[in-house]
Amino acid sequence: MAMLIVGMVLFALLVLVIHHWWRHRNAIVTNWPILGMLPTLLYNIPRMHDFATELMRRSGGTFEFKGPLFSGMDFIITCDPLNLQHITTTKFSNYPKGKEFREVFDVVGDGILNVDSDLWRLQRKMFQIWTRRHLNFDSFVVTTLHRKVVNDLIPFLNHATETTTEVDLQVTLQRMITFDNAILFIFGLDLASYSFKSPKLEYQKAFNEMEEALFQRHILPKSYWKLQRWLQVGTERKLRIAREKFDEFIFQCISLKREQMRHTNSETNNEEANFGMLTVYMEEKEKPYSDKFLRDVAFSFLAAARDTLTAGLCWFFWLVATHPDIEIKILEEMKEKLGGNCNNLNYNFKSEELSKLVYLQAAIYETFRLYPSLPFNHRTPTKADVFPSGHHVKPKQMVMTSVYSTGRMEEVWGKDCLEFKPERWFSEQGEFVYVPPHKFPAFHIGPRTCLGKDMALIQMKVMALTILKNYHFQVVEGHPVSPNLTIIINLKYGLKMRISKRS
Ligand code: HEM
Repeated sequence: MAMLIVGMVLFALLVLVIHHWWRHRNAIVTNWPILGMLPTLLYNIPRMHDFATELMRRSGGTFEFKGPLFSGMDFIITCDPLNLQHITTTKFSNYPKGKEFREVFDVVGDGILNVDSDLWRLQRKMFQIWTRRHLNFDSFVVTTLHRKVVNDLIPFLNHATETTTEVDLQVTLQRMITFDNAILFIFGLDLASYSFKSPKLEYQKAFNEMEEALFQRHILPKSYWKLQRWLQVGTERKLRIAREKFDEFIFQCISLKREQMRHTNSETNNEEANFGMLTVYMEEKEKPYSDKFLRDVAFSFLAAARDTLTAGLCWFFWLVATHPDIEIKILEEMKEKLGGNCNNLNYNFKSEELSKLVYLQAAIYETFRLYPSLPFNHRTPTKADVFPSGHHVKPKQMVMTSVYSTGRMEEVWGKDCLEFKPERWFSEQGEFVYVPPHKFPAFHIGPRTCLGKDMALIQMKVMALTILKNYHFQVVEGHPVSPNLTIIINLKYGLKMRISKRS
């Protein structure tokens, strides 16, 4: 009897589900009773960014997502350039990072990526003070990176061409260049010269795990991940352990830096001790900043600078390797504009030479259009508002912006928007076309625009040229390429490439 009742209830539920689905079959996403749109979201997680882009296309650029009942997961997602400009610039003060953002990114603490108002202004100012200390900041960036490339990357790649033919470029760049380079810019410490409690790779792994866990917080109901955090299970437990591990590393760097600065006086003017963004904070004697605050500043900077660059470089090399005609044009432009000088294996590009390479710049922009390192962003309005698209937002309603989708909208980029085509960045007269940031928001827009944009572009150019002119890469046959599900859009399975010396 009990079986019969259970069977009838299940049958009735099935009929209701089918009926509901049939009635809403033309909806962009089925909004189920109680569960809202969560089932569709969960089903599409493996292809989250493309799913968001489909939603954006079908909804005209803005979509209201309904989460399960009482889950607090309702949000509005947009990729409409006018809405983006509205949120980030015109109504900037109504869309702070806010409490929601801080909750999700609690590991960032009081670092620039996580704060508003005075703390945010202070950190922007300090960054600018640091860059102005260097008479020619661009040359300083080139020289710093060049040292790392010559000492570590080129010997590794040379060795790889002789001993093995396959390298995972993503792992190589992350381990050898972007992490160490970011630490060099933040602390002025060359990691190769110091020993730490654990191997450097363990700290990098911890950082990656934190990024993955933070992404999970975006797709799970808040109550769920908070419960996990409270119970210290699953991803939240991993996050805590990774955070502790990584903090161990940052606090060691802070203490090494303090030590280094103590041993330096104004007479010796030790260049290394004055190097690194954190020195600007550490020189403050009247009200010294706490180690906790320095940790937050450093963490934010590292989060902003490391994987954004790795991701940008990897997508660039993948796109170029799969478009040999574009690779040829990049190398031809280099030869034509820089002459034979740059043929030397260890050539140190000058920043003024790099700015002549407009085709390379277009190829890099095109990479960020299709694969913006930070594919989405979110804000929480303090007051009710109406977007230029006519959508109403309530106070505290989460607003997501899909930067990934903006770069793939036909209305913005034309019918060939999915093609990798650096030529689109030039007018018919061959001039570089200015695209306003709300149509190309890879480096964000308005007062919170990326502070490291120029620095990132210089580093991309140095790395691109050094690698392309010396080596030939081919993606290993059958190697799967798809975006990973973390805050930063790196490659899920890495980037396995066959490498040979260019003759
Ligand atoms: C390839 C590279 C990069 C891309 C695509 C990129 C993109 C972005 C984006 C989208 C934001 C806005 C984040 C938000 O509001 O939540 C941002 C902010 C920021 N970026 Fe970058 N970034 C890159 C490299 C760098 C580098 C190398 C640095 C440091 C040297 C840097 C420093 C910053 C800082 C400090 C902020 C915070 C700005 C603020 O909130 O006022 N970025 N970046």
